[in-house]
Amino acid sequence: MAQELRFDGRTVIVTGAGGGLGRAYALAFAARGANVVVNDLGASRGGDGSSSAFADKVVDEIIKAGGKAVSNYNSVEDGDKIVETAMKAFGRVDILINNAGILRDKSFARMTDSDWDLIQAVHVRGSYKVTKAAWDIFRKQKFGRIINTASAAGIYGNFGQANYSSAKLALVSFTETLAKEGAKANIHANVIAPIAASRMTESVMPPDVLAALKPDYVAPLVMYLCHESTEENGSLFEVGAGFVAKLRWERSKGAVFKADDTFLPGTVAVKWNEITDFTNPTYPTSPGDADFVGFLEKAKALPSNPKSEDLKFDGKVA
Ligand code: NAI
Repeated sequence: MAQELRFDGRTVIVTGAGGGLGRAYALAFAARGANVVVNDLGASRGGDGSSSAFADKVVDEIIKAGGKAVSNYNSVEDGDKIVETAMKAFGRVDILINNAGILRDKSFARMTDSDWDLIQAVHVRGSYKVTKAAWDIFRKQKFGRIINTASAAGIYGNFGQANYSSAKLALVSFTETLAKEGAKANIHANVIAPIAASRMTESVMPPDVLAALKPDYVAPLVMYLCHESTEENGSLFEVGAGFVAKLRWERSKGAVFKADDTFLPGTVAVKWNEITDFTNPTYPTSPGDADFVGFLEKAKALPSNPKSEDLKFDGKVA
């Protein structure tokens, strides 16, 4: 039997926990002993309005089930107030789930500055603000677990989501950097691209598919990653409907050119197949993983690049 991972004495902040995925995390953490701050602005799917009812309903559910929780109604853009609620109610913060989110889907041609800015503000600045407020607490206590929320749209791009997808991918690199900076202080940050039935997805998926995509099926990975015994740090996972997979960057073996004045656009075209060949890839995890000194050494030994001025700019090399 799998060991029950418990969170007794830990305080968890879940942003956007008044519905959907956040609610599932809040209930699950509370059921395993954690004190939970249920943050929710109570906004519409597009980010308009506010209401205390979202967070309060989830807090009621937790308390009725014998758990410990408090509401917070601030926007994640006021992250310090959310952390303040946790400190006032429970005297500590151990785990932060940056989950709150909204959508303003529009084709790029129709997207306005405010569609762009609002999405960036809630997802990127919001995650930054709550994390920033918790960071020193995590550092001082030498423990912290952070989950950021990306999206498949962010990893792969998606029609109508230039604002949302760019914000979501930003959270992947935000996580990768937090993981590197936090590791020494036992602060682990991981990022998920979930898929689940919620008001966010109910209009884009058929009912039978939605039924298989319970938010409850995302919570186990989130909780595993946040447990004190878990070492995983700086990783990206796709998760939903009972499927969990880790993603990583893959770099083609690449091509090395003599870096001198014979290195021209046409020279790139000559080795295009090599540049895009993934037969012997590498899996870089830091900027230092690109061995530029080694590439330079290799390039030194090469003869000058073949003359390529005769490249015709119709995509063919003459
Ligand atoms: P949801 O719409 O059910 O829940 C989001 C919650 O965030 C809402 O209760 C809303 O009131 C709250 N919220 C919005 N703006 C806020 C703000 N400024 N401050 C505090 N709370 C705010 O959506 P769902 O599906 O549960 O999404 C949760 C997260 O997962 C989001 O970040 C979303 O982008 C992401 N996601 C969800 C997917 C899915 O399949 N449901 C797919 C990929 C990503």
